[in-house]
Amino acid sequence: MRSIDDLDVFGRTVLVRADLNVPMADGEISDDGRIRACLPTLTALTDRGARVVVVAHLGRPKGQVAPELSLAPVAARLSELLERPVQFSSELTGMRAQSAVAELGDGEILLLENVRFDSRETSKDPAQRRLLANELASLADLYVSDGFGVVHREQASVTDVAQLLPNAAGRLVASESQVFDRLITDPKRPYGVVLGGAKVSDKLGVIGNLLSRVDRILVGGGMCFTFLAAAGHPVGDSLLEADQVETVRQVLADAADRGVEVVLPVDIVVAREFSPDSEYATVAADSIEAGWMGMDIGPRTVELFTEKLADARTVVWNGPMGVFEMPAFSIGTRAVAEALADTTSFTVIGGGDSAAAIRAFDIADDRYSHVSTGGGASLEFLEGKLLPGLAVLEDH
Ligand code: 3PG
Repeated sequence: MRSIDDLDVFGRTVLVRADLNVPMADGEISDDGRIRACLPTLTALTDRGARVVVVAHLGRPKGQVAPELSLAPVAARLSELLERPVQFSSELTGMRAQSAVAELGDGEILLLENVRFDSRETSKDPAQRRLLANELASLADLYVSDGFGVVHREQASVTDVAQLLPNAAGRLVASESQVFDRLITDPKRPYGVVLGGAKVSDKLGVIGNLLSRVDRILVGGGMCFTFLAAAGHPVGDSLLEADQVETVRQVLADAADRGVEVVLPVDIVVAREFSPDSEYATVAADSIEAGWMGMDIGPRTVELFTEKLADARTVVWNGPMGVFEMPAFSIGTRAVAEALADTTSFTVIGGGDSAAAIRAFDIADDRYSHVSTGGGASLEFLEGKLLPGLAVLEDH
């Protein structure tokens, strides 16, 4: 793929696809890591006199305008971080957006409203996506792909528009791709993956494909309850994707056939309700009773996971081990974050939530080999898939 250094950008309008999908709490950005991650590309372009139009999404509004998912607060934060004004267009491609683009001077930046407010962005119909891509392309002369977190998505602003303009990879996409290429081509073994987060269904395909690449998979977080259920254990009121239990059983059987060790929690911190002040207790992972829900991995699991990671030479971590936003249920996630920060192995933190957790615990990014901005994208990369948002980028 071409680098932004290969583009002649002075006085030209550059459409940058960034991943500004940041966590929000009560209308405030709770972790600005992804905004910070796109600064090197934006600065490199504006320093060279480009007129930069940023297109990005927030959440999954499914083609509807959802005011709470407006990118306006992100424009404000971007402006603070860059220490220069960032214009915001509440329209994506209409006449007001066009005139905002036309008014940009050399070295200025405009952020467009959430691209997913337009249903054509995520449409399965390529013709629909192409219509939006044409409108986006008409705003600019060049396209830069810098939203590493979305390169696994076939969406108008990621794949379709890239085919309509001369394109290049931004600094973030280039550096993230390099790290994940290394994990694909030359991982030092033993190679362990720690998976967590809420939704097993989002990650199941990935787990299946990872089995041929890794030596050990440690499962925590909300997704572990579907694994515990598949192993025949009661999970009480914990998060459970009942329709995935059979598939997880299959994954466990495949793992056993391939000699890949799947390590499940042995104890769980359970709570009466999903609340930071709830009554809680630690119980064995095979006996969670009705009326209790799993909120974190327990101390024996922390020990077990730490031991299983101790001799690994490559570790990828994706997804928190519990509800780390609530102090009482953050201990497992913090312990895994600290265990990985202390190893000398090649450690990659993937996923918006795990990266946000590290920052919430004040653990410096440089204690890991790489902190990725990509969640789903990083996992799909690890599966060895050709990601559509990278495949469309030009080679020369
Ligand atoms: C992410 O948060 O992983 C990226 O921004 C992609 O978001 P999505 O899973 O909603 O496509």
